[in-house]
Amino acid sequence: MAGELRYDDQVVVVTGAGGGLGKAYATFFGSRGAKVVVNDLGGSFKGEGNSTKAADVVVNEIKAAGGQAVANYDSVENGDRIIDTAVKAFGRVDVLINNAGILRDVSFKNMTDQDWDLLMKVHVKGAYKCTRAAWPHFRKQKYGRVINTASAAGLFGNFGQANYSAAKLAMVGFTETLAKEGAKYNIICNVIAPIAASRMTETIMPPDMLENLKPEWVVPLVAVLVHKNNTSENGGIFEAGGGHVAKLRWERSSGLLLKADDSYTPGAILKKWDKVTDFSNPQYPTGPNDFMSLLEESMKMGPNEQGEKLDFTGRVALVT
Ligand code: NAI
Repeated sequence: MAGELRYDDQVVVVTGAGGGLGKAYATFFGSRGAKVVVNDLGGSFKGEGNSTKAADVVVNEIKAAGGQAVANYDSVENGDRIIDTAVKAFGRVDVLINNAGILRDVSFKNMTDQDWDLLMKVHVKGAYKCTRAAWPHFRKQKYGRVINTASAAGLFGNFGQANYSAAKLAMVGFTETLAKEGAKYNIICNVIAPIAASRMTETIMPPDMLENLKPEWVVPLVAVLVHKNNTSENGGIFEAGGGHVAKLRWERSSGLLLKADDSYTPGAILKKWDKVTDFSNPQYPTGPNDFMSLLEESMKMGPNEQGEKLDFTGRVALVT
């Protein structure tokens, strides 16, 4: 079709592509000219068991539609084997979509070390191992596109998901640093927080809502971000689902700056707490560098005032 975004001859690796979002990415790229590595361990959504069936079904679907694909059945913890599959089958790797994931939802009180460790292994170590294996190829060819998968649970927290939230926000920090390190090699990394109907969400969302959250509706954003024409959106955090796409960023209050000496007490902060939380003139930081200029300003200031606070009798008390 005229004007459609194409990925001809590009090698796209999708982890966890045997179902849900991963399958939607894999079949899309397969239909737009890419050679696709369909990775899936084929276990349960809690990370138990394994099977070759999930990946095979998707590979067969892509091939039946005239596309090119190979299966890989390794866990993402063995990311080097997944990237090896791409290089052996197709000679290169251009795009990596770190999508594989599991859930171990349980209240924090009842969380076990196994619930925590397994989540970190699949989400954090898995994304690290796959990206680490692809990175030398990307650098050598001066081209690479990476998508990491976060979650609203990671950005905002969600009851029963302390392990998942921690793993998912890790994907944001991981992406931000890779974006900075990869930029001069034309390696572009972005992170998405998707929302879609899948076996992961079918038990927690009502059917009419799931109907409006097809995994296919997350695909267009990913397609734009990993396309070769995207040379500007790097290190972005995006939400996508149900036809909605948005970009997120950090916001910092204009803040309180005090002299850092003996007069910099809890009371001195308390007195001006409204400044700490005042978002009327916010900043949108993208890196750690602006801290030094604040430090210089603080050094030039006079001593801080003591704080004032109402005590239990309603009298104004001095707080230091
Ligand atoms: P899904 O359960 O349908 O798909 C995940 C796939 O990853 C499965 O096919 C599974 O076999 C595979 N997988 C699991 N562990 C693996 C491992 N160690 N190695 C290789 N493959 C493995 O779930 P869904 O919903 O498609 O999730 C995809 C990604 O999107 C996950 O990272 C998930 O955390 C994330 N996500 C999904 C949301 C949603 O609304 N569906 C919301 C926020 C994030």
